[in-house]
Amino acid sequence: MSHLVSPSLLSANFGNLEKDINLLNNSHADWFHIDVMDGVFVPNISFGFPILKFIKKLSKKPLDVHLMIVQPERYIKRFVDEGAEILTVHYEACNHLDRTLNEIKSYGAKAGVSINPHSSVNLLDDIVDIADLILIMSVNPGFGGQKFIPNSLKKIEQLKNLIIKRNSKALIEVDGGVDFSNARQLIDAGVDILVAGNTIFGSGNIVDSIEKLKSV
Ligand code: DX5
Ligand code: ZN
Repeated sequence: MSHLVSPSLLSANFGNLEKDINLLNNSHADWFHIDVMDGVFVPNISFGFPILKFIKKLSKKPLDVHLMIVQPERYIKRFVDEGAEILTVHYEACNHLDRTLNEIKSYGAKAGVSINPHSSVNLLDDIVDIADLILIMSVNPGFGGQKFIPNSLKKIEQLKNLIIKRNSKALIEVDGGVDFSNARQLIDAGVDILVAGNTIFGSGNIVDSIEKLKSV
């Protein structure tokens, strides 16, 4: 499979969100990455259901929803009902991750697990078999436009090995500080999905930047 690109709408222009959504619809973007933040799990608040509903109505691509919220199990059904095709929760935010992933899958969505920069890939040992996707945070979550943490590359290689060892089908997604200078290296290390916010929306040409990330 060639790699996918999932633009993070956190960096989109919320003054004219419809325009950016249409640009993404007419680009080679594969998914829409939607960052939900609660101001508790991360030191920032992004947006909630009304915005998600609006994006769902206009988007022609799968919604890749990244929950940076505590106790995400409270909202699993709601997010799937609102249109999340891929729903990712944080390892650090779940007391019963196995149950939460199975619940996501029971509603027909793909279940993802994300780990923060301080969390070791080894923590995924007993969960990689049932996850559809693992999201490696390559910045401390909460904000767009941060610098890629170099140690993340090693984690992606470790995760790729773990997935092969376990014969897991989980896809590897990377999120934070992805740009034209590191994208190729990330894919070579095993990444299946590149998330990018600032690199796409801060570039002046959304469609071209997506094309560039698709063809690195
Ligand atoms: C950060 C979010 C990211 C963010 C990425 O907490 O999870 O998805 O929007 O933004 P960039 O690509 O600008 O680092
Ligand atoms: Zn994200």
